[in-house]
Amino acid sequence: QPIHLHDYQPPAYRVTHTELKFDLSPSATHVSARLHLERHPERQQEAPPLVLNGEHLTLLRIAIDGQELEAGEYAVDDETLTVHAVPQRFLLDTEVEIDPAANTALEGLYLSNGMFCTQCEAEGFRRITYYPDRPDVMATFSTTVIGDKASVPVLLSNGNPVERGELPGDRHFVTWEDPHPKPCYLFALVAGDLRKVEDRFTTMSGRDVTLQIWVEQENLDKTDHAMASLKRAMTWDEETYGREYDLDLFMIVAVNDFNMGAMENKGLNIFNSAAVLTHPLTATDAAFQRVEGIVAHEYFHNWSGNRVTCRDWFQLSLKEGFTVFRDQSFTADTNSAPVKRIEDVSFFRTAQFAEDAGPTAHPVRPDQYIEISNFYTLTIYEKGAEVVRMLRNLLGWETFRKGTDLYFARFDGQAVTIEDFVDCMREVSGLDLSRFMHWYSQAGTPEIDANGHYDYAKGEYHLTLRQRTPATPGQHEKLPLHIPIRLGLVGTKSGEDLALTLDGQALGKDAVIHLCEEEQHFVFTGLSEAPVPSLLRGFSAPVKLRFPYAREDLAFLLQHDSDGFNRWDAGQRLAILALDDLIAAHRNGVEKVMDVRVVEAFRTLLTTASDDKAVLAEMLTLPSEAYIAEQQPVVDVDAIHAARTFVKQSLAVALRDEFMAVYHDHRAEAPYAPEPDQIAERSLKNVALSYLMSIEDEEAVALTQQQFEAGHNMTDVRTALTLLVHSSRDDLADPALKVFGEKWAHDPLVMDQWFSIQVTRPQPDVLERLKFLMQHPAFSLKNPNKVRALIGTFASQNRVNFHRADGEGYKLLADVVIELNELNPEIAARIITPLTRWQRFDEERQALMKSELERIRAEELSPNVYEVVEKALAS
Ligand code: ARG
Ligand code: ZN
Repeated sequence: QPIHLHDYQPPAYRVTHTELKFDLSPSATHVSARLHLERHPERQQEAPPLVLNGEHLTLLRIAIDGQELEAGEYAVDDETLTVHAVPQRFLLDTEVEIDPAANTALEGLYLSNGMFCTQCEAEGFRRITYYPDRPDVMATFSTTVIGDKASVPVLLSNGNPVERGELPGDRHFVTWEDPHPKPCYLFALVAGDLRKVEDRFTTMSGRDVTLQIWVEQENLDKTDHAMASLKRAMTWDEETYGREYDLDLFMIVAVNDFNMGAMENKGLNIFNSAAVLTHPLTATDAAFQRVEGIVAHEYFHNWSGNRVTCRDWFQLSLKEGFTVFRDQSFTADTNSAPVKRIEDVSFFRTAQFAEDAGPTAHPVRPDQYIEISNFYTLTIYEKGAEVVRMLRNLLGWETFRKGTDLYFARFDGQAVTIEDFVDCMREVSGLDLSRFMHWYSQAGTPEIDANGHYDYAKGEYHLTLRQRTPATPGQHEKLPLHIPIRLGLVGTKSGEDLALTLDGQALGKDAVIHLCEEEQHFVFTGLSEAPVPSLLRGFSAPVKLRFPYAREDLAFLLQHDSDGFNRWDAGQRLAILALDDLIAAHRNGVEKVMDVRVVEAFRTLLTTASDDKAVLAEMLTLPSEAYIAEQQPVVDVDAIHAARTFVKQSLAVALRDEFMAVYHDHRAEAPYAPEPDQIAERSLKNVALSYLMSIEDEEAVALTQQQFEAGHNMTDVRTALTLLVHSSRDDLADPALKVFGEKWAHDPLVMDQWFSIQVTRPQPDVLERLKFLMQHPAFSLKNPNKVRALIGTFASQNRVNFHRADGEGYKLLADVVIELNELNPEIAARIITPLTRWQRFDEERQALMKSELERIRAEELSPNVYEVVEKALAS
């Protein structure tokens, strides 16, 4: 029952205006809808039946132009309401009853902590009322919300409040009007006992906007950072893209139970509390940065998503890829640009590459799906952003900006496609982007094999690039892509970028070459010294690039590359080479020997003054086990863990005093601020501490305990707690866990961290601990944050224990998936991911993983879980 991109048809009827009335009650909310409908101009000749979406609804009343319908005039099934004959233009009135309290899927209208809230993207609105639930139906909305004054004193929806008043029975109402036509996936309603923090913003054209963040009383002290981030994002979008906010009111609401990070509903963004609340004592630097990024992301959707939206859900990356690109650029401009790029790429190459190589691989624009909720993926979001970034780089910022201006102007108020976006880029640049379009239609990560040699006699560097995209499920033939490769040639004598001349053309010292064919040969002439090539600078395309670097070359680039990103990447490549040897040694039972070149490279890093401490902290961080696994043909989790631990401990032993010096040099204790300089100092200090704790150095243990007890901020406390809990000593772990757990029992977001720290312990008792923690009063399978903190973190980050040889890790995950399949299918289909990657492991593990997938398949499955499990087993 998959649906296909090529089957797209415009809707038979469209809604021009939608009037909604909600009579709220936890188990029996009544929703009355009056839809102003008219036949689509292109369908004037036919008289198709009216088919509306609707699920989990009890229909109480239906009338057309005020006439109640007779039983034979319409039909209702589990998914639709059909009215057999309707006029050209008419009013449809319906009234349905729904049960928010029983809604554990968290789609549509549901209750979270006694507060009513909605999540409609992608297809949740059909759980609220009968409606053409598709993004190309755009209407203005007028919404009246009625509820108890005592239990739901605050009643919110999209747009501006236009009327409020009292009703009999201690009830009250507010009517909201949203003048901007929108698809129903952007509808929102919130009703609860909420408090607000308010601020103002004046837009570039002088519009005065009220900004509100609505939270539960106890969280009033955790909104400052989100508010400041929102104002920065509003200013940035004006200055960078010329985009201004378009209503008098912008609201953010924090809710505890939420499937994703946040949602860009028009004028009323709803956030997972984890994506908006911060306080120095409860949130880490990483959490502060995540909040800033997500607040900006949702705000930026007001243009890239809301004003211009998607024609259908195959176009999801049109809004998500572009908006991620926008939020990444915002963060880069607001914080450290190289660090932002390193963080994004290092996540991308681990998680998106794995997705692109697995059974659920799909193009940035998929051409079929069963359940669209399964497609809120790293490919749609992050690879989509990389594709937009390549366009920006191909066109240059100014031309790209002309393209976005054209896009926003031409399509304002419309629901459009990825072609529409790329066409604007083509029009303003005159570039032929036909081959580039394959990035949207082809799944899989392109692999580039690069080879080069220097011709001393001629002073030429010859570079050969060959591209190949491996087959992915359902897509065996792949076409060559247009791949922009930014590069430099670093002179081995001077350590400087050499001037590049290609085909007699001077390109400067840092240039972009275009790989468009399967294989291309480039000759750089006029060189006066032998170079080491620095390829794919800034990760200029989302590809895997192999080049036969000698370790000396990598050590050289680590010191001399003018591109910060590639300097970091040279270190990663060097570490991977050393790790490969150690993984082999572990498997062959040979004694492990540390590569001194890595030790010396780290010594240089630790002892050379650096002006970018945040980048330095990244360079001192070894590739994660997940990233190392990505490089292996067959993943041996134990060998990877052993090898990485060995490298870390060897570095700590060899450079103990250097790490200690770094720790002591970066302990400045200014009042906490989530600002780049402070964050850099803390990361550097904490990286050093983690090396020292890997050998359980006595002085380091004392410093870690001190740092934990001092409790200055969550970044330092969480690092210290993690290091204590992950040490081999339960006398360090247990007391710290107890103190922390009791201190923060009242704060769900801190308890999430407490859970995650425990289930990432490398010790073998962790699975038993996890089972015990699932009984903890603070844990609940109904809360997605808790499921992610405990189960998701364990399965994706504790690789040695999840992949235990006895299969108990797999069994536990399958049990949870089966339970969640009924409670919350979207979350169930998400946390199953690690099991779907069975092909990457040895035969015994493959068999165990597959048998758990089969056990899941034997259940009565939601479409969400069904789609993922089928793909995983079919491959
Ligand atoms: N549009 C939201 C965002 O990226 C995500 C909503 C996803 N919803 C879902 N049910 N999967 O900001
Ligand atoms: Zn988004």
